[in-house]
Amino acid sequence: MALHLGSIAPDFTQESTEGTIRFHEWIGNGWAILFSHPKDFTPVCTTELGAAANLKAEFDKRNVKMIAVSVDDVPSHKRWIGDIEETQSAKMNFPILGDADRKVATLYDMIHAEANDTLTVRSVFIIDPNKKIRLVLTYPASTGRNFAEILRVIDSLQLTDKHSVATPANWQQGGDVVISPSLQDPEVLKQKFPKGYKAIKPYLRMTPQPDKK
Ligand code: BEZ
Repeated sequence: MALHLGSIAPDFTQESTEGTIRFHEWIGNGWAILFSHPKDFTPVCTTELGAAANLKAEFDKRNVKMIAVSVDDVPSHKRWIGDIEETQSAKMNFPILGDADRKVATLYDMIHAEANDTLTVRSVFIIDPNKKIRLVLTYPASTGRNFAEILRVIDSLQLTDKHSVATPANWQQGGDVVISPSLQDPEVLKQKFPKGYKAIKPYLRMTPQPDKK
């Protein structure tokens, strides 16, 4: 079954570099990102895992656990981690799932046979505390992901879950946001957006980010 935004992230039990992972239990009450790597000992993946490990404090701040998957087994991942740490000035600090049986790759539709019938694409799933999928990204094997963009989406999701706003193109923390078009009651608008707003068009109303001073 296709995984869509709002779908419950499939649960699984699989071995990892940090022991057996029961996925939903492992996520707990926070957020998670699950991202796939086409294969161990490949150059782009090596840089991505180092980059992600070096951003762990940023993910922790947002209550997001990271977990990677690659279709090789755990002993191979453990050998690869040595190279990642040696070459990327990084200390691996989150689990990599072994997936030689492709259980996770299949559940999450990470093998796109028309692109390559054995390697996974570079998928990213952001999963919320209700275990719902909130973002799906698919990159080709030849393009390394931008982890700053993944953090930006997490910031947007966590902000827009709390306030009746959406974030515009290229939004960054602290930038103005868009008021949801469904909010029309002037009293509610005053109460929710005490700093006021600018109506550029009736449907395009900008307001300062509500949770910033
Ligand atoms: C890489 O991670 O470098 C890579 C993996 C598969 C195909 C191309 C590049």
